[in-house]
Amino acid sequence: MNILSSLKAKVKTLLKLHGDTYHEPDARDKYLEAIELSYLYSMFNLFNRVRKVPGHIVEVGVGAGRNAIVLGKLLKFTSQHSNAKYFGFDTFESYTKLDLKENDGLSSTRWKDNSIEFVKNRIDNHGLNKICEFIVGDIRRSLPEFIKESHARHGGDSLYCRLVYIDTSSYTPSKVTLEALYELVVPGGIIAIDQRRQGGEWKALVEFCEEAGCKLVVGDNYNDVPAYILKE
Ligand SMILES: C[S@@+](CC[C@H](N)C(=O)[O-])C[C@H]1O[C@@H](n2cnc3c(N)ncnc32)[C@H](O)[C@@H]1O
Repeated sequence: MNILSSLKAKVKTLLKLHGDTYHEPDARDKYLEAIELSYLYSMFNLFNRVRKVPGHIVEVGVGAGRNAIVLGKLLKFTSQHSNAKYFGFDTFESYTKLDLKENDGLSSTRWKDNSIEFVKNRIDNHGLNKICEFIVGDIRRSLPEFIKESHARHGGDSLYCRLVYIDTSSYTPSKVTLEALYELVVPGGIIAIDQRRQGGEWKALVEFCEEAGCKLVVGDNYNDVPAYILKE
C-alpha cells in the first residue's frame, strides 16, 4: 500500500470513528478530498500568518513542486510577487546517502523522479517561473553557498525571509537550515516543519530552540503545521 492509500485508509477510519461516512469526491472536486483540503487549509493558514510580513519564502525539500506552486500562487494572488520570491532547495534526486544512513525509514526511491527539469516544467505551466527559483544540491552545501553568493551579489541584507518551510524528513538538513536561516528570518516570520510523526525535523527543531533560546510553538490542530518558531 502506498503512502497516499494508507493515509486515505486512516482518514476513512477517523471519519467512521466520528460517525461520518467517506465518499470518493467527484473527479472535478478532487481538492475537496479530506487529505487535499486539510493540506491546503494548513498551507493557507501558514501563509496567512506571514502575509503582511516582508521577505521571501524558502522551502527546503521541494519534492515535485507542490508547495512551490501553492506558495508561488499565494504570492501572486496577494500581489506580493514583485518583491518576494519562493526559493526551493532540493537535490532533485531524492535523499542523499548520508541522509539515508542517518535517518531510519527513508526510502531512496520515494522522491527520485522529481528532476529539476520536471519541476521547472510544472512551474512554467503554472506561469510561476519568475516567482519560483530552485537551487540544486545537498542542502548541507547548497544553502550556505547560496546565502554567501546572495550576500555577495546584493549586499548583506538581501535574503530576508518571512517563511522557511522545512520538509526534508531528516535531521542534519533541518538543523543546517535552522542554523543558516534563523538570523535571516524577519520579526514576525516563521520557520515551520512539515513532519507530523516525530523524527529528524522535530529533533532538529527542538534542539535548535533549546540552543537558541527560542520558543517552539505547536500547531493549533491536526490541520495545522505540526510545529514552528515564530521569530520575535
Ligand atoms: C517530503 S519531500 C518534499 C515534499 C514537498 N515539500 C511537498 O510538499 O510536496 C522531501 C524532499 O527533500 C529532499 N531532500 C532530502 N534531503 C535533502 C538534502 N540533504 N538536500 C537537499 N534536498 C533534500 C528530497 O529530495 C525530497 O524531494
